[in-house]
Amino acid sequence: RPAPDSPPPAGGVTAPGRAAIRERHLRTDRWWLAPAATAAGLLAFVIYSTWRAFANTDYYAAPYVSPFYSPCLAENCEPMKGGPNFDLLGGWWGLSPAIIILIFPLGFRLTCYYYRKAYYRGFWASPPACAVAEPHKKYSGETRFPLVLQNIHRYFFYAAVLVALILTWDTVLAFRNSDYEWGHMGLGTLVFLANIVLIWAYTLSCHSCRHIVGGRLKHFSKHPVRYKLWGWVGKLNERHMFLAWASLISVAAADFYVYLVASGAFDDPTLF
Ligand code: FES
Repeated sequence: RPAPDSPPPAGGVTAPGRAAIRERHLRTDRWWLAPAATAAGLLAFVIYSTWRAFANTDYYAAPYVSPFYSPCLAENCEPMKGGPNFDLLGGWWGLSPAIIILIFPLGFRLTCYYYRKAYYRGFWASPPACAVAEPHKKYSGETRFPLVLQNIHRYFFYAAVLVALILTWDTVLAFRNSDYEWGHMGLGTLVFLANIVLIWAYTLSCHSCRHIVGGRLKHFSKHPVRYKLWGWVGKLNERHMFLAWASLISVAAADFYVYLVASGAFDDPTLF
């Protein structure tokens, strides 16, 4: 057993060759603000989405269906007229239908490169910020179970594209009134439009998408279309963090709007 006053085992910031600095870090700014705000924001979303996913009520108010409950995969969901109703699960699924659907967008966001940075810093302090050493003694990165599973992000990207297509379908259906007549717009239509634009922008700004579109090419000059697309995705990718937060807020806002209308707390104003 090491003596009580023996130096900490060499490793991490105390590894041989590292500068011997006594202070935990040399930052003098409020470096903790960003990880604290990130943790608070993510926690608020987790609490809200858990409540809504398990509520299994007030998710449909013609012509709007909450993005948390679309597509309809089980028998026990309220199917939207003309909407994405697949009934793949049949009658055996007795829990809220949102739980099964949310696995895909949740998996996409949980394994997202930006969110990984955000929650590693916000919740695990690993590391808490740039130039602030983490409190953990060991660091194995994402090389071991369970974090090695983060590599499945690229597959979640394909699922996220399907989810975005379904939410696009829901947005088109929002151009009806509550009697399912086409050519109308309510305030909810605008909420859905803003949400779908942000969902697509976030999905297409994904690092995996950028690699799928323009990766593994030796000569861009021989693939002008992919090069062009790669440039566009790259421009979106620069704003990936902003789009991650904006689309997280917009999807919660779209769900909350449907909740307000479905529960009778608010009447969807008709614009035309
Ligand atoms: Fe963030 Fe793919 S890297 S969604």
